[in-house]
Amino acid sequence: VELSEFVAGLPKCELHVHLEGTLEPELKLALAERNGVDIGQSTVEEVRATYRFDSLASFLAVYYPAMDVLVTEQDFYDLAHAYLVRAASQNVRYAEVFFDPQVHMGRGVSFEAVVRGYHRALQDVERDLGVAGALIMCIVRDLPAANAMEALDAALPFKDLIVGLGLDSDERGNPPAKFAEVFAKARDEGLHLTMHCDIDQENTTEHIRQALEDIRVERLDHGTNVVEDPRLLQVVRERGTGLTCCPISNGFVTGDMKAPVIAGLLREGVRVTVNSDDPAYFGGYVAENLLALARAVDLSPAELVQLERNAFEIAWLPDEQRARYL
Ligand code: HPA
Ligand code: ZN
Repeated sequence: VELSEFVAGLPKCELHVHLEGTLEPELKLALAERNGVDIGQSTVEEVRATYRFDSLASFLAVYYPAMDVLVTEQDFYDLAHAYLVRAASQNVRYAEVFFDPQVHMGRGVSFEAVVRGYHRALQDVERDLGVAGALIMCIVRDLPAANAMEALDAALPFKDLIVGLGLDSDERGNPPAKFAEVFAKARDEGLHLTMHCDIDQENTTEHIRQALEDIRVERLDHGTNVVEDPRLLQVVRERGTGLTCCPISNGFVTGDMKAPVIAGLLREGVRVTVNSDDPAYFGGYVAENLLALARAVDLSPAELVQLERNAFEIAWLPDEQRARYL
């Protein structure tokens, strides 16, 4: 079998995708029109011409303004529905998806509209296509800690619709410790915890240390700089901490997919996984990410299967549901 066919047929689990990062140019233009929002471009080609990134910051500068087109509950439904249908077409069986409520709340959109739209899409796609999923609310780390706490408080009445809390956006000057109280409260409320420790940012290994030892997250998003600190790598090994890696995204943010590092961790038995991050912007959903990694470091079919086993193992699923995938 061709590698691409093997990857296409593999049952998949996606754990690191930002719903707002799945906004394809066609939907962006349709929502802009529907809501009367001027985004400055009027064709798919014009939109794509603005997608020039060589760092996390240059990506975020395009990513956040685009969210202005998301206004009503139906807009959030349409965005999540389109992503989930596309994931289903790549044989994704389960997806945990991030979203950034603070950005929407800052524009006057209610937490309720965001979470209800996304949740209804998850329910409909599970019913119609058999793809299950869950929502992970992300804290935008370059906003103040008080704003994060307000967002968590706004989320708590809907906490049955959310499986966990994450941390994303610009990492420079925004260490995990800034949000210790917010994450402690989320844990007390029964939410699972993860954090972005993006590739090659400032103080990355110290951020990984804070996330693992002070906040005690269950997973690290990206997090492959852990290989630079043998002691922290040992913590990851002993706890079986999952890493949600995104090779194509890494290529944009750092100029390097970090394929040998990801493959090295996989081959040492660390629970690394392969994910898409912001597929509408970086031009690759989960299958393309698996294929890019497999080609770069010659992964065997058994290693590709192991990547997906890792993902189902670290997913925040009840054990009886997990057993159906493993
Ligand atoms: N890193 C940080 N923030 C983000 C990302 C990412 O990869 N994608 C969307 N927001
Ligand atoms: Zn991410």
